[in-house]
Amino acid sequence: MEEKRIKIGVLTSGGDAPGMNAAIRAIVRAGDYLGAEIYGIKDGYKGMFEAGKYIFRMTRNSVTDIITRGGTVLGTARMKEFVKDENRLIAINNLKQLGINFLITIGGDGTYQGAKRLTELGMPCIALPGTIDNDIASTDFTIGFDTALNTALDACDKLRDTSNAHQRCSIIEVMGRYCGDIALAVGVAAGAEVVVYSKETFYLEAILAEAKSWKVQNKRHALVVVAEHVTDVHELAQEIEEKSGFSCRATILGHIQRGGSPTAQDRILASRMGHAAVLAALGGRGGIAIAIRNNEIIEIPLAEALTVKKNMFKNFDELMHILS
Ligand code: F6P
Repeated sequence: MEEKRIKIGVLTSGGDAPGMNAAIRAIVRAGDYLGAEIYGIKDGYKGMFEAGKYIFRMTRNSVTDIITRGGTVLGTARMKEFVKDENRLIAINNLKQLGINFLITIGGDGTYQGAKRLTELGMPCIALPGTIDNDIASTDFTIGFDTALNTALDACDKLRDTSNAHQRCSIIEVMGRYCGDIALAVGVAAGAEVVVYSKETFYLEAILAEAKSWKVQNKRHALVVVAEHVTDVHELAQEIEEKSGFSCRATILGHIQRGGSPTAQDRILASRMGHAAVLAALGGRGGIAIAIRNNEIIEIPLAEALTVKKNMFKNFDELMHILS
């Protein structure tokens, strides 16, 4: 009797993140080594729903030369209509018709919600945290965060050069959706004067008081890091300039943070997590999220992963003495 091979689908969904390709590569190579068939699904849940040419068998050759590349070779999309169970059931049926019995999803919070529901509806999912935002609370780090952080750091260092030349303050707005991890981490790494990593940490009067001291201190430059969705950074620059007399310019870093070759840390994290996801599928464990905690790769039930509350880096508390 022919042995029934396990067939695993893989998709990337939501905002792309550097390191997603390294995860896909690890999944395909681990699958090949351990005897599972891997099927790539183009454009996230949309491809799963539309099926046809969107689902294809992946072999080691499909993942040659991708570990160095940012973006995702599988493409990604945000499909609003996927929140409807009727569409999810169509998508599940598409996979089942091909004999696919496990699905690995790589993405952020929205992707996790989708994976949880798909599991409940009959397609066991294994979720990998792939997002620059680091907003998946169940894991210490998400795939893509380190690369985005380094991209933001490079931008801050460049802004320092020009700020210094002009005796100016640079405000930089960084991404993170509603999570301030990129802002906080880059603020520390870049030696920022002020870091506003959430609406709750935005004290305009305190920033203006600080800005007024820069002239007195004879500072050549100042750096203010602000997380997105907190305030209008161009208006803030104008206010700082008017109230402190210190010249000020704002830069919104934007989608640059999502691109580029992944750092070693992201490639290694993605490879470890991709491998762990295949092991979970082969062990028959669905409805789980892969996470890293204290440098250990672990499995957490998806339902639990979605209820963990996000903590700002705990060990950054004492750094407030340096930041303020
Ligand atoms: O989730 C990743 C992210 O880049 C966030 O940091 C940002 O808020 C959002 O996606 C931007 O989304 P879009 O690519 O749809 O503009």
